[in-house]
Parts: sequence; structure tokens; C-alpha cells
Amino acid sequence: MVKTEKFIPKAIEKIRKEIKDGRAIIALSGGVDSSVCAELAHRAIGDRLQPIYIDTGLMRKGETERIKHIFAHMNLDIVYAKDRFLAALKGITDPEEKRKAIGETFIRVFEEEARKLTADYLIQGTIYPDRIESEGGIKSHHNVGGLPSVMDFKKIVEPIEDLYKDEVREIAWALQLPDEICERMPFPGPGLAVRILGEVTEEKLEVVREANFIVEEELLERFCPWQTFAAVLGKGTGVKGDIRAYGWIIAVRAVGSRDGMTAEALELPWDVLKKLESRITSEIPKVARVVYDITPKPPATIEFE
Ligand code: XMP
Repeated sequence: MVKTEKFIPKAIEKIRKEIKDGRAIIALSGGVDSSVCAELAHRAIGDRLQPIYIDTGLMRKGETERIKHIFAHMNLDIVYAKDRFLAALKGITDPEEKRKAIGETFIRVFEEEARKLTADYLIQGTIYPDRIESEGGIKSHHNVGGLPSVMDFKKIVEPIEDLYKDEVREIAWALQLPDEICERMPFPGPGLAVRILGEVTEEKLEVVREANFIVEEELLERFCPWQTFAAVLGKGTGVKGDIRAYGWIIAVRAVGSRDGMTAEALELPWDVLKKLESRITSEIPKVARVVYDITPKPPATIEFE
């Protein structure tokens, strides 16, 4: 376990040494990793850090507004790029191709912004498990997959590359970041796209975004899972009223984990599962069926794609 009191000044000093009087940018997602890096870098180089937030259209409900509010003190550059991401994803069904298309689009948008800002350094919130899983070929984590190799920076600075998630959270608390950042469950870089099986469409996005919102409302505070969310699996036959309904199938996932490398499904009480089913099928009329995923990691992964 890292010693937070020692880690913070050391990390700030290291960033200062690396960047000297240069300018740096960071892709801020609002997650704990990039937020910790942004805060460390902000303390190290102040206004010479420019955080960029890209609204990919694959975000959860209210996410962009929330991030705007939390990082108001950092002069955040917000880029709305939903149409570009959806265009890049059109027709793609293979999970790895989807991840690559998102990573690629992310790079293009980020590159364009970076060029405008003339920064020499890129700060990334890569953590230890991201590196291991990407290097091991399990999934292409998009914050590792592309940015460095294609971009023209003097250096990529990765202040938390040796830390595990729980260590990053400790640093977040010590930096006095808002509670909602410190406690925030992980949210993948490719966003809701990895919770949609097959092609990403506006309709599936809308359904999975609403379902995610309900799942978080019902489970997050009460069960404090490592991660909980909804995924849309495909369509199945149902009946609503007396009418056949060919609707979406939503899978609910709630897992406990220490570091995301392995995970166990939570044993949720039946009444909680019933309430989830009832809320999701009534509040989202396009949903015909709700299932609960009990698979641990391994053999499954936490996200569906
Ligand atoms: P999996 O699905 O591989 O997820 O069991 C392990 C943890 O990593 C998160 N995850 C990602 N995080 N970029 C990220 O920043 C990604 O591409 C990505 N894919 C998965 C996932 O939410 C879980 O916490």
C-alpha cells in the first residue's frame, strides 16, 4: 500500500521536474484516476495544465453537467463529439473493433484539441491493472491503446501508473477531491458502448442509459458494490397488456472486487431484484425482460464487451 503523505509531494515534484516550464494537457473523464492526475498536475503546474473533457455521447445520464460543475475551477475544455463517435461506430458489432473505433475517434478529437492548445506534454491516468490487461491482450483499454504512439508529444506523463484502484482512491481522499469523485465506481473509457451488445445505436444507448440510472439508484448506496450497471443484450419476445412486445433484454450487473482483475457477483436479495425488474420494465417501455448476471470474473469480465 502506498504511503499517501509521501506519494503526493513526490508525484507533484516529479511532474514539475518532467514538465519544467512546459504546458500539458490531460483527458479528464471525471473518473477517480484522471481526476487524481488532473489535481496532482494542477498543483504541480497550475494554469499550464489544460484538462479536456470529451463528451462522446456514450456517457451516463447527467455526466457532462456533473463534470462541468465539479471541475469548474480548472477551466475545463468541453468538446461535444457524440455525432462523430456514433458515425465511427456505425455498423460495427465486434467488441474489439468497437473499442478500437472509439479509441481512434477519441485520439482524433483529442489531437485536434491538443493542436489548438500547443501543449508539449500529455498526462494520462493509466493505472497498474490497465497496463497489465492491455499488455496481456485481454481487452484494449482505450486510455492505453492509442494516444501515446500516434501523438506528437515530448513526453507522456503517467503519475499513477504503478497504483491499484484502491490506492488511487486513498490519494483522492488525501487530495480532498469531492466525495462523489473519491467514491465513484469505475466507468470504462469506451463508456456505455461496452454495455451494448452488437451495434451501438441511439435507441440502445437511450435504453441502456435509463436502465443504468435506475440500477445505480437502487444499488449504489445500499450495497456499495465495486461496480453496478445495466447492459442491453438484444431483443426478446414479451407481452405487455394483451399485446406481444418485442423488447430489449436488460442485464443487471453488480460485482464486488478489490482491483477489477477478479470479481464476484453480489448475492442481491430477491425483493431488490424484483424491484429492479419492475422499475426497468415499467419506466422503460421498450424493455421486455430483465436478467441478473451471476457470473464471476473469471470466466466473465466485468463489462460485457
Ligand atoms: P473488465 O470488463 O475487463 O473490466 O473486467 C475491469 C475494470 O476495468 C474497467 N474497464 C475499462 N476502463 N477503459 C477504462 O478506463 C477501458 O477500456 C475499460 N474496459 C473496462 C471496467 O469498468 C472494470 O472496472
